[in-house]
Amino acid sequence: MKQRLESLAAAGVKQLPKASRRGGRSAASGPTSTALPPAASGVDADTDRIRSLRILNQQVADCTQCVELAATRTHTVFGVGPPDARICFFGEAPGADEDASGEPFVGRAGELLTKIIEACKLRREDVYILNVLKCRPPGNRPPLPGEVANCRRFFEQQLEIIAPEYICCLGTSASHALLGTAEPIGELRKRWFAHGSAKVICTYHPSYLLQNPAAKRDVWDDMKVMMSDMGVEL
Ligand code: URA
Repeated sequence: MKQRLESLAAAGVKQLPKASRRGGRSAASGPTSTALPPAASGVDADTDRIRSLRILNQQVADCTQCVELAATRTHTVFGVGPPDARICFFGEAPGADEDASGEPFVGRAGELLTKIIEACKLRREDVYILNVLKCRPPGNRPPLPGEVANCRRFFEQQLEIIAPEYICCLGTSASHALLGTAEPIGELRKRWFAHGSAKVICTYHPSYLLQNPAAKRDVWDDMKVMMSDMGVEL
């Protein structure tokens, strides 16, 4: 049992799913190195997702492709949340607090993200949280294009395994990395995009809100749009 719980923790699972919300649906739809066998359903599908995330997490921990990041990181920061989450919040890269703890969004921006999630009548444990980069860029500089390219296989596989219904991109880096656009974040807001079978919405990054509290109103508007689409009125 202890070994099993350690294995789940390694996959970023902090709570066990009570029952799958997705009976009959295969978690992985494309050919990846962590592709799941088809026809998994219910509890089997959750088990497959957990196993695939654990394998991917280990690949991330072993990665040294970005020489500078691998040399300066304390921990890789894979992601956290239920393996069958309906919503993924997609951030930029770990900061100092996340590098120290190995968990995404645990610093000041993370506290604000938790408040945003709770304002949506959700708990942080209900959503999956991940970043474009799995290693902290020194000095919290923005990710370099080559680093995003190196990490793409990890976040793409992660999203494919979880297969969320909604992806909320937090800020410019996440929006650009996922959508392959260079449009300013202000112009990406208030529009729906698609990524695989997920609906994608873009909003400001919590770190931006710490510097520009007036923009909280815009993020709240974006959350209302997403939650309304899910059938939840805020
Ligand atoms: N900012 C991010 O984009 N991700 C984190 O995990 C923390 C801060």
